[in-house]
Amino acid sequence: MTDTENKEFIFTEGELQEIKMHVAKYPEARSAVMPALWIAQNKFGWLSDQAIQLVADTLGLSFAHVYGVASFYTMYFKKPMGKYLLEVCTCFSCGECGGKEILQYAKKAIQADEQGVSPDKLFWVREAECLGACDTAPVMQFNNGHYVHALTEEKIDRLIEEVKSGKLPQYERIPLNNQSLIG
Ligand code: FES
Repeated sequence: MTDTENKEFIFTEGELQEIKMHVAKYPEARSAVMPALWIAQNKFGWLSDQAIQLVADTLGLSFAHVYGVASFYTMYFKKPMGKYLLEVCTCFSCGECGGKEILQYAKKAIQADEQGVSPDKLFWVREAECLGACDTAPVMQFNNGHYVHALTEEKIDRLIEEVKSGKLPQYERIPLNNQSLIG
């Protein structure tokens, strides 16, 4: 039996309340499809057909509509990959500042397979397009959320160690144009 088959595809009362709160912000329920997909992904780890159907049923939409949104945006996972996603930007500034080399380093550090996933499925490394923080290049986004600025191989090593030891990484909070982190 797969992970997907083991899961019961329902939202809890609390999750339904959260979705209702999003629906209330818009004239139509369909406008809340993105936050609802986000809630489903956080709950199930990725968006299987069952999870997408659950979102569709909850919002009164067709499966095709919800699938269309889920398959358009890269932040929604359509396959089970690694638990923690490391997205290294290799675009414009980051590419010029070592992002491509750090991407390769990160893949090697987690012993990534062809899909970028570590053997224990704890990590998943993939290339990202511009993350909008070019002035602190190279940049990495961790798990669709926090950014790691002025990325180095040492920062990759530290993040991997911290996650393996059960801690979520400590992130830098820096203002844009902080030259002290560059170079
Ligand atoms: S080029 Fe990497 S954040 Fe813009």
